[in-house]
Amino acid sequence: MTKVITYGTYDFLHEGHIRLLKRAKALGDYLIVGVTADDFDMARGKINVGQSLMERVEAIRQTGLADKIIIEEYEGQKIDDIRRYEADIFTVGSDWVGKFDYLNEFCKVVYLDRTEGISSTEIRSHRQELRIGLVGETNIVNKFKNECRYVNGVEIAGVYASTSGTLDNELKNLTSRTSSYDELLCKCNAVYIASKPSEHYHQVKKALESGAHVICESPITLDIEQFDELIHIASEKGLVLMDGIKTAYSLAFNRMMLLIKAGIIGDVLSVDTTCTSLIDIDKNNLPSHLWNSITAWGPTALLPIFKILGTDFKQTMRYSKSLPNHKDFDIFTKVSFIYDNGVASIKVGQGVKSEGEMVISGTKGYIYVPAPWWKTDYFEVRYENSSENKRYFYQLDGEGIRYEILSFINLIKGRKSYNQVSEEISQQIIRIVGNTGEG
Ligand code: CTP
Repeated sequence: MTKVITYGTYDFLHEGHIRLLKRAKALGDYLIVGVTADDFDMARGKINVGQSLMERVEAIRQTGLADKIIIEEYEGQKIDDIRRYEADIFTVGSDWVGKFDYLNEFCKVVYLDRTEGISSTEIRSHRQELRIGLVGETNIVNKFKNECRYVNGVEIAGVYASTSGTLDNELKNLTSRTSSYDELLCKCNAVYIASKPSEHYHQVKKALESGAHVICESPITLDIEQFDELIHIASEKGLVLMDGIKTAYSLAFNRMMLLIKAGIIGDVLSVDTTCTSLIDIDKNNLPSHLWNSITAWGPTALLPIFKILGTDFKQTMRYSKSLPNHKDFDIFTKVSFIYDNGVASIKVGQGVKSEGEMVISGTKGYIYVPAPWWKTDYFEVRYENSSENKRYFYQLDGEGIRYEILSFINLIKGRKSYNQVSEEISQQIIRIVGNTGEG
């Protein structure tokens, strides 16, 4: 008996897949089809597969072509599978020519002609059409634009910035660049807002009123009542208003949160985060779009504290150092939090440099995330007995922004997003970094 093995994601099973499976089956007597697991697709950069693993497996089963269906979960698994199932032929479409020649050592490798004119990517891109408008003058607008490319079905509808100084050439030359926010809103069904925080409220409100979903760099507003008003408008209109803290969407950060909840370091008593980035600040000519340190870094620094210890702190203590003639522009701020059952602190600064690490201390051990912890891809769980220490690494592509965009789309589609920043967290962030700077 000749055994044939083939692999794929098989998202929205289409004619190209079926033709390939039929020809694969015809190469032998027994066909094994490997379907990629969601996590494996994520790790290899296929981030917005539209169907769940169960749906994809079921679609393959219904073709009646597979004698056996297996799940592909890790890099290098193909060799293991070929040996385990004693496959004689490995086959895949011609889009992979040369890529799997290394398997010739284990079985025969056959590349079959790919069917022209159809792909899952194309099907996905017709399914969701997010025409997103970019708003703001910070460098992150450029990053966001670049990351949109990795998510199917997202199209940049235009860009609006009061000054073009920070936009990269691609955005500067975009024909859909506009100097009118209203004009931008006419072209899109969603906006990404990264303007300076004092402009967020009006821009978010206008976007929601025009029927656009909004993802806004945190803090969404500087005033809690304004935030509540925006949440109310969004919910009345059935729109998504998402707090954009990219760290919240990093896979490593989320796995770390789950491990903490599962008690890996016991009860958490302290969370300490530091975020600094030394920038050139011309105190005689402060650019108007520059965010002060607490608004630039505060939301990110506060995120793990509120996720782990909750938002119900009892007391805060704050130290800030401001520029001589700009009392609202802090070059450094430290805030300490007292909870019933723990403490926390953030240190943020754009005029002071420090080690950008995070330490989460528990009754059984602690978690150490090295600088820059906010681009979490690696962390260590450390114990008194260092031989029990564990290290975790998860690929972080695009600083988490592409996963953030994906969560945004999922929320728009009405799907749950477990790593989303909750309303309570957004509110407390505003209380700490906003105009009143309580505490
Ligand atoms: N395939 C094919 N013809 C197509 C599309 C896919 O022969 N038009 C083959 C691939 O070469 C592969 C298998 O079907 O052997 C599964 O491919 P998969 O990557 O799941 O499908 P794509 O449509 O290529 O998906 P994507 O657009 O997400 O890359």
